[in-house]
Amino acid sequence: MVVGGGGREHAIVDALARSAQVEKIYCAPGNAGIAGQAECVPLKDTDVEGLLAFASAHSIDLTVVGPEAALAAGIVDRFRAAGLKIFGQTQAATAIESSKDFAKQLMVAAGVPTAAYRTFTDFKAALAYVKAGSIPTVIKYDGLAAGKGVVVAATLEEAEAALRDMLLDGRYGEGKVVIEEFLTGPEFSLMAFVNGRQVRPMVAAQDHKRAFDGDAGPNTGGMGAYTESFATGKSGLSFISDADYDFAVTKILQPVADAMADASTPLSGVLYGGLMKTPSGIKVIEFNARFGDPETEVVLPRLESDIYDIFVAVADGTPIPETRWKDESVMGVVMASKGYPGSYAKGAPISVAPDFGERIYHMGTKRAEDGGLVTAGGRVLMVIAGAPTMKEAARRCYAAVEKVSCDNLFYRRDIAKYVL
Ligand code: AMP
Ligand code: GLY
Repeated sequence: MVVGGGGREHAIVDALARSAQVEKIYCAPGNAGIAGQAECVPLKDTDVEGLLAFASAHSIDLTVVGPEAALAAGIVDRFRAAGLKIFGQTQAATAIESSKDFAKQLMVAAGVPTAAYRTFTDFKAALAYVKAGSIPTVIKYDGLAAGKGVVVAATLEEAEAALRDMLLDGRYGEGKVVIEEFLTGPEFSLMAFVNGRQVRPMVAAQDHKRAFDGDAGPNTGGMGAYTESFATGKSGLSFISDADYDFAVTKILQPVADAMADASTPLSGVLYGGLMKTPSGIKVIEFNARFGDPETEVVLPRLESDIYDIFVAVADGTPIPETRWKDESVMGVVMASKGYPGSYAKGAPISVAPDFGERIYHMGTKRAEDGGLVTAGGRVLMVIAGAPTMKEAARRCYAAVEKVSCDNLFYRRDIAKYVL
């Protein structure tokens, strides 16, 4: 059973469907696309007791958790206590994602490179620190804020407004902020399967967070991603050298896994490093305690190893088998509802041409009463194409995007522009 209902979960279901060991997949709650490969179960991802009852009643051999909300709700702890096999981080381990302050302290203690920072709860003290420092500066709310907790302030006024929001207005809850040095350089995502102290890195990918071409417009959950063939090295990204990749694994992911194990909150699931290649080396922007979305949708199609074996090893606490990756470039383009990440309409009919020919992961779709496919979210579909070169992957991906008809969707035309 896969828990979640977006593009990431569709990619996980698709990877499981490729395993000869997997006979039947359930997905809760799933979506209209996932329904083609799994039986969807109408349970919310945070309905831990409902999911547990379902898993017990249906003798589910393995549960795999996508969303952070379910992990933070303690689904892994609850399933394990009931003797059920589950892949994902424990509630305690999700602090690496949910608390910026916790993540920062851990990194400093473990010698992991990240932006210099200080933590504040007092508005006046925070403002004085910002005034004494340099602009731009970065202000992060200490807690899960649905992706809206980070403000890169280009002016003192913006910084003050952010501090006011987070510390005085109680917009997100109890006020605590991390104020960070502004770093520059290309960002990338490196995920690993982690089992206590064992770290099995995946190939790296790059996300595109802004809504519009040329990195213009507001921040989104991600509008597209890509990972490159091994032609330019082992990382999966041509701007990340083999030495960069080794550094990211041995000096960032491994020490974090060790520090979490030392703190008696061992990792068991995916550790996601949001990293930046700065002029003074690779540094951490953030960690997530789960598969990234939309990175997973381009990374997992490259996995040749049986993902069921990996999930079971991590769930059982036994050594993770070696992973093999396809030597191909993969591009994914997100098709989102017009207006996203602001307000948008739902229910627009979608049709996909019969000769579509590529992978398509559903992020936010459902079946209308007449059985037709309609939009049901901000990010709706992700079209995925793999090929020996990025250029060919891009050509195929955008040709496939043209075969999706819906009058309320938009997409970026410049995914992987750095490579192309
Ligand atoms: P986060 O939610 O921590 O990933 O932050 C969201 C985005 O803010 C990141 O993807 C970066 O583009 C930007 N950002 C976060 N921290 C910094 C930093 N210290 N310097 C520059 N940009 C940052
Ligand atoms: N792509 C960023 C995330 O999954 O948080």
